Amino acid sequence: MTDKIDIRESAPGDAAFIEKLYPDAFPDEDLLPLVRDLLSEAQNVLSLVAIVNGAPAGHVIFTTCSVVDKPDKVALLGPLAVAPARQRQGVGGAIVDAGLRQVEDAGANRVFVLGDPAYYGRFGFATEDGVTPPYPLPEEWRTAWQSLSLGGDKAPLSGALTVPQPWRQRALWTS
Ligand SMILES: CC(C)(COP(=O)(O)OP(=O)(O)OC[C@H]1O[C@@H](n2cnc3c(N)ncnc32)[C@H](O)[C@@H]1OP(=O)(O)O)[C@@H](O)C(=O)NCCC(=O)NCCS
Repeated sequence: MTDKIDIRESAPGDAAFIEKLYPDAFPDEDLLPLVRDLLSEAQNVLSLVAIVNGAPAGHVIFTTCSVVDKPDKVALLGPLAVAPARQRQGVGGAIVDAGLRQVEDAGANRVFVLGDPAYYGRFGFATEDGVTPPYPLPEEWRTAWQSLSLGGDKAPLSGALTVPQPWRQRALWTS
């Protein structure tokens, strides 16, 4: 039987799960400082937890951002992690889909992500050329900078992405 995946906003009681999840899913990277800082930015952040058979299994954050001199409301997807024992069972897909619907309902017309195109392509993300990330990316990451238009918005958008403080760390974008 397929496991039931529920998605809900994270709560303070999820802290222990989140603190274990990121080191488990990213053994070579320490994303917890970023995650903690984002979670303390309640205003700009949508933080979702995936629950499988009653237990937390995945987490994602969408951060509301803007593009310099543009009225568009946009979002930045990440970090995203699924517990190793629960990977490749549809949890990542379910939590990203739910987040995309929520940010669209909240008025965002575009979502950006820095990640593996082989994964994010399945949601419709494609290489972004018009909107630039907060710091110049290494050349080998050029195709990892992607965007997805929401709500059928096809209007071209260009300019520099402005991100809240937790994302303003060069190391997040360059290493
Ligand atoms: C990447 C991640 C979030 C995907 O979540 P998930 O629940 O495992 O993914 P889903 O079950 O929804 O989708 C699985 C599909 O994605 C693919 N996939 C999973 N991880 C992938 C990766 N790092 N790169 C490319 N494709 C990947 C699988 O091949 C699978 O496709 P298939 O079913 O056709 O074989 C999860 O594997 C994870 O946390 N990995 C470790 C941390 C990480 O690399 N995060 C990247 C975020 S930028």
